Amino acid sequence: MYDLVIRNATIAQTDGSTIAADLACEDGRISRIAATIDVTGRENIDAAGRLLLPGVIDPQVHFREPGSEHKEDLGSGSRAAARGGVTSFLEMPNTDPPTTSQQALDDKFARAARKCVVNYGFFIGATPDNLEEINRASPVCGIKVFMGASTGTLLVNDPRDLERIFATGERLIAVHAEDEARIRARKVQFAGRTDVAAHSEIRDNKCALQATELALALSKKYRRRLHILHLSTHEEVDLLRRDKPPWVTAEAIPNHLLLNVEDYARQGTLVQMNPPIRTARDNAALWAGLHDGVIDFIATDHAPHTLQEKRRPYPQSPSGMPGVETSLPLILTEMSSGRCTLAEIQRWMSYGPAQAYRIPNKGKIAEGWDADLTLVDLEHARPVRNEDLFSRAGWSPYAGRELVGWPDYTVVAGRVVFDQGRIRENAIGQPLRFG
Ligand code: DOR
Repeated sequence: MYDLVIRNATIAQTDGSTIAADLACEDGRISRIAATIDVTGRENIDAAGRLLLPGVIDPQVHFREPGSEHKEDLGSGSRAAARGGVTSFLEMPNTDPPTTSQQALDDKFARAARKCVVNYGFFIGATPDNLEEINRASPVCGIKVFMGASTGTLLVNDPRDLERIFATGERLIAVHAEDEARIRARKVQFAGRTDVAAHSEIRDNKCALQATELALALSKKYRRRLHILHLSTHEEVDLLRRDKPPWVTAEAIPNHLLLNVEDYARQGTLVQMNPPIRTARDNAALWAGLHDGVIDFIATDHAPHTLQEKRRPYPQSPSGMPGVETSLPLILTEMSSGRCTLAEIQRWMSYGPAQAYRIPNKGKIAEGWDADLTLVDLEHARPVRNEDLFSRAGWSPYAGRELVGWPDYTVVAGRVVFDQGRIRENAIGQPLRFG
């Protein structure tokens, strides 16, 4: 008997076409896709009128455990992920203590095994003096380097330290590319400004471009796998369009695609993040970069802080916005208005991240692939409402936006974890493997 049979679904194919079919899962895999599957499953879902997508892989989230569980923890973050159709996440090391050693990594895995309802992987954080550890600690999806300081204590801003990191080892290096020296100099220059719009001026496009140029140069010098996190400027898109070796990848996040400096007027410090929101010109360049493949995929940089923290006056207000729960409906809503296609969404949000991080067997709906799925409703628009959110942060910069594409069900390894508004399963997530 199948574990789960989903009937009458519109099933997304990687090429962007759809088929009307039934799908059966067994032992965590998609075992059969056929026009009709007569056998009854242990669990059966009627998917009529809804679109079945591969589960989203969110390759950049901050779930705050250990150290800041009042903002989020691995349980609440993973439940928010499931509600948003995200079946796997890669989590960042700027926790407290930071994930900079095998011991800290083991601790995160132990916590995740107890709490996570979706699949998980973790970055190891680079410091100026943990070179051996970042190359030895296992399993990791990559090495995270904060070239510019953000939330937490992690920072590698001396170019000599950066060079040693790029020169040693083979693992993927994911960079938060903002130039710390320039940020510091501009903070002094803008010291009198207490309006949050100053944030985008202090950490200007050039801060991002300079750091991305340096990371790219080091990656080319050592032929080192490089991933540029949350690309935010048109200058960086142009740079990569001219010069992007095959071992380099880049991502964009919904906030840099859909928000810009105009949003400070209404949302103030809520939309403060690093790298900052930019201009409409940058929004357009990022969309163009995604369309032509200069940008490989979408992450959320889910970075929860409480509303109380976010409402502190600038610059005491922390940087970051929650996003893991809303990214898929946001992008599906863009699809419904013609801005992108079903093929692109699967590439950007499912198999693109799987490919870049070498996560085997995930990101497509096909027989034999992992049964990580989400069933979404494109017919009915519903607003983002703070009171509905599963993230402990309890707010969203998109509150009030009417979105289509909310998941009705999310399935991890053939088991229903999110069921029409409720989390059903506990801690069924598995550690991800990286090839
Ligand atoms: O705005 C941000 N918030 N950018 C980051 O790089 C870190 C994140 C956080 O952890 O709060």
